[in-house]
Amino acid sequence: MALWSGRFEEAAAPVTQEFGASLPVDRALYKQDIAGSIAHATMLAAQGIIGQEDADAICEGLKAIEADIDAGAFVFDIADEDIHMAIESELTRRIGAAGGRLHTGRSRNDQVATDTRLAAKALAKDLMEANLGLRAALLDAAEKAGDTVLPGMTHLQHAQPVLLSHHLLAYVWMLGRDFTRLSAAFDAADLLPLGAAALAGTTYPLDRRMTAGLLGFAGVIENSLDAVSDRDFLLDLEYACSVMAVHLSRLSEEIVLWSSQEFGFITLSDAYSTGSSIMPQKKNPDFAELIRGKTGRVVGDLVQLLMTCKGLPLAYNKDMQEDKEGALDAAKTLAQCLAVMTGMVSTWTVNADRMRSVMHRGHLAATDVADYLAKHGMPFREAHAVVGHLVLEAEKQGCDISELPFETFKEASELFGRDITKALDLDAIVAARTTEGGTAPVAVVEQLRRARARYLVD
Ligand code: ARG
Repeated sequence: MALWSGRFEEAAAPVTQEFGASLPVDRALYKQDIAGSIAHATMLAAQGIIGQEDADAICEGLKAIEADIDAGAFVFDIADEDIHMAIESELTRRIGAAGGRLHTGRSRNDQVATDTRLAAKALAKDLMEANLGLRAALLDAAEKAGDTVLPGMTHLQHAQPVLLSHHLLAYVWMLGRDFTRLSAAFDAADLLPLGAAALAGTTYPLDRRMTAGLLGFAGVIENSLDAVSDRDFLLDLEYACSVMAVHLSRLSEEIVLWSSQEFGFITLSDAYSTGSSIMPQKKNPDFAELIRGKTGRVVGDLVQLLMTCKGLPLAYNKDMQEDKEGALDAAKTLAQCLAVMTGMVSTWTVNADRMRSVMHRGHLAATDVADYLAKHGMPFREAHAVVGHLVLEAEKQGCDISELPFETFKEASELFGRDITKALDLDAIVAARTTEGGTAPVAVVEQLRRARARYLVD
């Protein structure tokens, strides 16, 4: 018989049992549920709402149940519906009437919101740690890259040369913002719903701030309806996960490209590659592809919860039971992606020679040749057109703009002097981009310093 069956005359239809139960998902929250109940019982006793002896029996009983679940010795029964009733009914079986006092001044509505908030905080913290781990690996890779250059791209076409370290640091900054989003999601979850009871508050003289303190919440939710109705803190977490997953997916896409024969920019370690069951030569970047693939799943989890919440009247509705599976899945999936990406980045081999050897394709120097003319007095638009014709000429000759003879430059404009070679030198082109945040080695050294400083305060 369910804990709520008092007003019922008929048993539930068997088909509804599994359908209505959240136990297969929310049993993962048993530690949060027990911590919440211990704090609630402690506060009830401190307020004289239940006796100290009953509170002691409740707390001891709950700790014993926790130990049994830890040990895998607890038998879950789907008939209990959810983790809250599974634990409460077992408690009452074990300690008798005192167990029946635990739920005084409490509802599963504020209980589940409390458990879920505690879980969201823990997930956010773990993901923040993992985020730092990947940033450390990328910072090391950026430092190790030194003055290695590669073709910077727009539209996946050669654009201008950049330092590999600069390219990798772009991801470090994205991940820094992801960290900020996670930290905001942590803060959003960091308020106590307990005391809201079913929806309206309760007649018992609860000390909500005491319960909040015992559970490590920064404060209490100000409105009892809001406390049991909203899952925006989970949306915040899933959004933070989604954006981070999208960042990892973009990096994954570059890893897939870079490790292809066409690019050959990096070689993944064997430990982060897979073979083919038919083609003996294959070494595939499966794990980068999987991170890219799993991103759809993480974003799907976010969209699912957004849709679940969009038409709900206040206050609690059973639809909200659909909140936990996706959130747990998004966080777990992202944690795996972060761990795999960290390993992949720390063990790949950078093929700097290969990066350099493709630099003479795609006229990477073209912008700088136009800038040369502009700096010698030609309006930039005109210079752009002159260099455009030089590129066309190079294309016709089947070479790179940097390989055209000096005479061709001279024919294109009188302003070209012998020092045009400087504008064609790719290392000089990189070194000249000294703007704050630019790709010149001096600027990147400073950027790396700031990125490390930011990492240390996070
Ligand atoms: N299993 C429920 C959930 O996850 C707990 C709250 C149920 N409350 C209720 N009044 N049915 O949302």
